[in-house]
Amino acid sequence: MSISPPQEQLWWNEPIPKSELIWITTAFLWGLVMFFAMIYWHIAGEQNLSNEAYRTTPEAFAAKTEAMIAKYKVREEGGYPVVHPLPGEDVYLIGRLWQWWPILELEKDQTYRLHISSMDYMHGFSLQPVNINLQILPGYDMVLTVTPDKTGELGIVCNEFCGIGHHTMLGRLYVVDHP
Ligand code: CUA
Repeated sequence: MSISPPQEQLWWNEPIPKSELIWITTAFLWGLVMFFAMIYWHIAGEQNLSNEAYRTTPEAFAAKTEAMIAKYKVREEGGYPVVHPLPGEDVYLIGRLWQWWPILELEKDQTYRLHISSMDYMHGFSLQPVNINLQILPGYDMVLTVTPDKTGELGIVCNEFCGIGHHTMLGRLYVVDHP
């Protein structure tokens, strides 16, 4: 049992059985494969974007989001404000039980700083169908620098289980031509 001290005090001098050595080597090599796969996929996969993370609070993040909505709201859809910020602006998206708030409308070929944070628990930001994934945590401002290259409607799915309404936590993001 591991809770009792080892019989041999200098246990690190004991020879390692061959089977254990094979497992350690296999696990180490597989770890290396997975490590380099992350780097490869970042470059080749177009899905693991570089993101930055900063400390924030739900209150501070909500205040920035509300300020953006007040400034750039263009219409409403099903109770959700649709926000069309100026190109180059910082845009904010809130994840909370159980919605992505608000609906963002971005312009094609323009670059934005997209900030995402949670108001309560962990959520998963999954942008479909492009399949960009990001873990969203309360207290952290996750920032992506994005340049949408196609017009259309993208879906935002929550891909971290966050309770009874998890499957209803769907959002929308529009990419439009410059008006
Ligand atoms: Cu939010 Cu699942």
